[in-house]
Amino acid sequence: MGLHFPRPKLAMDLATAVLGRSLFSQPSLFLAAPRRTGKSEFINRDVVPALRELGVCVIYVDLWKDQKADPAELVAHVVAKELAVRQGVVARAAAVIGLQKVCIQGVEFELGAVGKAAGAALSDALHELHRVVDMPIVLIIDEAQHVIARDSAMAVMFALKSARDTLNVDGRKFGLIMSGSDRDKLLRLVTGNAAPFLGSDITELPLLDQEFVHHAAGLLALEKPGWTFNNLRLHDAFVEFAHQPEFFFRAIQRASAAFSGPPGEFHDRLDQAAADYRTARAAEYTATYCAMTPIQQAMLARVLQGAGVFTQDALLEYARLKDPAANDPLSPGSARDAMNKLREQSPPVIWRSAHGEYAAEDSGMKSWYRDLATRNGWPPA
Ligand SMILES: Nc1ncnc2c1ncn2[C@@H]1O[C@H](COP(=O)(O)OP(=O)(O)OP(=O)(O)O)[C@@H](O)[C@H]1O
Ligand SMILES: [Mg+2]
Repeated sequence: MGLHFPRPKLAMDLATAVLGRSLFSQPSLFLAAPRRTGKSEFINRDVVPALRELGVCVIYVDLWKDQKADPAELVAHVVAKELAVRQGVVARAAAVIGLQKVCIQGVEFELGAVGKAAGAALSDALHELHRVVDMPIVLIIDEAQHVIARDSAMAVMFALKSARDTLNVDGRKFGLIMSGSDRDKLLRLVTGNAAPFLGSDITELPLLDQEFVHHAAGLLALEKPGWTFNNLRLHDAFVEFAHQPEFFFRAIQRASAAFSGPPGEFHDRLDQAAADYRTARAAEYTATYCAMTPIQQAMLARVLQGAGVFTQDALLEYARLKDPAANDPLSPGSARDAMNKLREQSPPVIWRSAHGEYAAEDSGMKSWYRDLATRNGWPPA
């Protein structure tokens, strides 16, 4: 199992938007969705084919795959390689340039020099590539938030932005799609004066949902003729698995395997697996919570309740956690430090929007909180 559920309409909408062929045209698209919910698969299986169908030269790079590599080099390398391949077609006939070299404005460069040497700047390579392929180029950077930690990589983002602006002076020739599961970090590419893509929006990639579950039910019916499945119960289980296809599929596989039990009890087995998954996640959340300072715990609780984290009463609450008799609120600076630690730890616990709204990084935490609160089980121990 694990067969791909396609979302061609959504993919085509994005493709036309990035190509400037729709009303909602955006030369740089930022896609965010929680971890393991299908971003990379959607990009590779749906968006890339849609772009190719529209006659685009697509370049894809995943900055997560090789976390030790410098993101700037990874980006320069994929562009250089595409250029080499495209030039290779011509060059092989002319027997001039091997694949290890590229030619930019009549000058030959080693692949590794692209993005570093003068005259082989990333934007030069992109201009040359556009000249060679004579079709629009879309560069897709998956897990783009990894660039933010390094200055050299941020410089790449500025280079891409400048290539985008110079290539697009008369018509859309170069588009960028960036994805990430860390919205807070992606936001740093689009907000603030120093942001390379100031003013762009972050688009939330819709979670796989009911239609995906229907698709899974169809696969299941083919696999297990004679069994009966209840789509509503399947959907409830998928939601429990936080809309993450692989955990859902794995549980289905186990619950429907030979010797797993009577067919009529399939849903009970699946529900049990979903409940176990939820319990395991709750244990993780509890461990995260217990590792925090009392002030951070109070902050997280406020975030999960939707209450203000830096209001006067919040600051007084934090101060009283240190000294129950305190009458003075905690200083906003100390509160901010405590909050920043929660945002910067790995994995981050708290997410902050450009407008200063706070949320739990992991969307599952909210239902964990609600669940405990309704059972009078908050705070967790
Ligand atoms: N449309 C889909 N149909 C079926 N399975 C899917 C679909 N999308 C994703 N999956 C499965 O879900 C898992 C996670 O997908 P993917 O790697 O695309 O997620 P991601 O959001 O990019 O994850 P990460 O946050 O780790 O980058 C994979 O096993 C993938 O095969
Ligand atoms: Mg991914």
